[in-house]
Amino acid sequence: MIPTIFFFFFIFALLSVSHASLVVDFCVADYTAPNGPTGYSCKSPKDVTVDDFVYHGLNTSGKTTIFNSSAAFGFDTQFPGLNGLGITTGRLDFGVGGVIPLHTHPRASELIVVIKGTILAGFVSTDNVAYIKILHKYDVMVFPQGLLHFQINVGDSNALAFVSLGSANPGIQTLDSALFQSNISTSIITATTLLDADTVEKLKDVFGGSGLNYMLLSMKV
Ligand SMILES: *[C@@H]1O[C@H](CO)[C@@H](O)[C@H](O)[C@H]1NC(C)=O
Ligand SMILES: *[C@@H]1O[C@H](CO)[C@@H](O)[C@H](O)[C@H]1NC(C)=O
Ligand SMILES: *[C@@H]1O[C@H](CO)[C@@H](O)[C@H](O)[C@H]1NC(C)=O
Repeated sequence: MIPTIFFFFFIFALLSVSHASLVVDFCVADYTAPNGPTGYSCKSPKDVTVDDFVYHGLNTSGKTTIFNSSAAFGFDTQFPGLNGLGITTGRLDFGVGGVIPLHTHPRASELIVVIKGTILAGFVSTDNVAYIKILHKYDVMVFPQGLLHFQINVGDSNALAFVSLGSANPGIQTLDSALFQSNISTSIITATTLLDADTVEKLKDVFGGSGLNYMLLSMKV
């Protein structure tokens, strides 16, 4: 009995692994069908053209944020040809002193290539160790999957970098946005971070956060 269960488990494990790799040359996203947890359905190969595999969205910078930086991405949502291929591209532009704030990609590791300028980049491991380095033109650095990381332009001119991530849709969760742009209440943020309410309210004004306050029993820390 046990070997049979083990056998089925083994087959199931094999199936779930092979599901991640394609058995066709490509699976260009069919945006007329719903998106699923493994990506979009495939467009019929007879409707696929070379333009499905070409993306123009990185020929200009993204929208500049309050951090004096911008990001533009080609995820499967905009770039149909990379659906199912486990890869994404992006472009980061920095003004002088520009910052890409601490964020994670829950579904992918990231590789950055500096094209212009000098960028201080780093990540923090789950052991809370910071790995930080100044990157110069054409330097490459990787940020392991799911770890908080950041980039800062520490040069005296604009900076430009391109990134590649190991998922057709890596996800982006920015620490500041999760805390101060979301609708987590101030009372929960103060209780879970030990920040004081004034600081939280001030940052919520900056980022546009909201949230009903809950009555929490006062804690003894
Ligand atoms: C970027 O690509 C789009 C689409 O091909 C094109 O219309 C636009 O002119 C390009 N912009 C630049 C700055 O090259
Ligand atoms: C943003 O970047 C621009 C261009 O590099 C620079 O002139 C400006 O001083 C920066 N703004 C801030 C608020 O740092
Ligand atoms: C946050 O906003 C969403 C969407 O408006 C809502 O469904 C959810 O209940 C809100 N959560 C809290 C804790 O206020």
